[in-house]
Amino acid sequence: MIRLFSYAAGAVLTLVLMISLFGTVKEAIVSPAAASVEHEYHREPKELKLASDGPLGKFDRAQLQRGLQVYTEVCAACHGVSLVSFGDLSALGYNEGQIKAFAGSGNFWKIEVPSINPDTGEAATRKPTPADRFPSPYPNETAARAANRNALPPDLSLITKAREGGAAYTYSLLVGYEKQPAELLKHFPTAKTPDGLYYNPYFANLNLAMPPPITSDGQVTYGEGSPPATVDQMAKDVSAFLVWTAEPKLENRHRTGIVVVVFLLFATILGYMSYKNIWAEAKRKVALKGPLDPDNQARRNRAKGKAGIEG
Ligand code: HEC
Repeated sequence: MIRLFSYAAGAVLTLVLMISLFGTVKEAIVSPAAASVEHEYHREPKELKLASDGPLGKFDRAQLQRGLQVYTEVCAACHGVSLVSFGDLSALGYNEGQIKAFAGSGNFWKIEVPSINPDTGEAATRKPTPADRFPSPYPNETAARAANRNALPPDLSLITKAREGGAAYTYSLLVGYEKQPAELLKHFPTAKTPDGLYYNPYFANLNLAMPPPITSDGQVTYGEGSPPATVDQMAKDVSAFLVWTAEPKLENRHRTGIVVVVFLLFATILGYMSYKNIWAEAKRKVALKGPLDPDNQARRNRAKGKAGIEG
């Protein structure tokens, strides 16, 4: 009786599930989800090749230095890289004197770090030293939003790790600003870019609050021997720099990776050889010759059969 009852309960449950599944499928066929403007117009990041790519990649120091220059002269007005200290710049090939001059002379780096007046104890600012982290342009989030139409310019230290596409995304975003296509407005009349935002098909919702930061060739003056400071080149350089800020130890990781792979290969070969050695005795094939060879036995049996000899 109990069993019958549980069969009935199972049947009812299955029926309910079937009915709801049918409803969902019918709904999906009869009224499919409307195409969204993001779905239609959002673009995947452009391809970007950097020296640090791949398992053997190394940083291109000259490019990182140019990227630092673009960051300092353009992006630092709105974005911090608060996880990097001035002293870390030694990894880009600068010596101590150059770093001191960069941070503290006021010629290159303009933003001061919060401090106190040693005489009065009041809030003040001072020039950074190599031990300081890069100071952010705004004292707090409220100030940052107030200066950017309520949008928050994110700290860029880890941005190439935090966004899908990494450096390629940052690069595409910087060179991807364009006029909103007329085609888009025809299909989606309500999707017009709001005032104060900028159309950029690489940004997830197509409109972002960052005004195009790199607008003209030669906006930053590169030193001797550098490639021409085109918009494209500057965008690439600053993206490469942001790969470094996000993972300054990338080269160590690559080196360790190679050593580990070589070691594992070696261990595999060694393991295979010792396996062969240990099992050699047990797996030894015994070759039988003469009357005991299975082929010879079969031949003998056939001949006996033909000749009518039993056994
Ligand atoms: C005038 C201020 C300003 C400058 C200069 C500026 N940005 Fe921005 N940036 C913003 C604001 C504001 C946002 C937030 C946009 C939003 O959320 O709509 C932002 C967002 C970003 C984002 C994140 C986009 C995302 O996916 O959330 C990246 C990456 C970025 N900026 C890179 C840069 C780089 C690199 C430079 C220098 C070449 C730069 N920005 C210069 C204001 C600025």
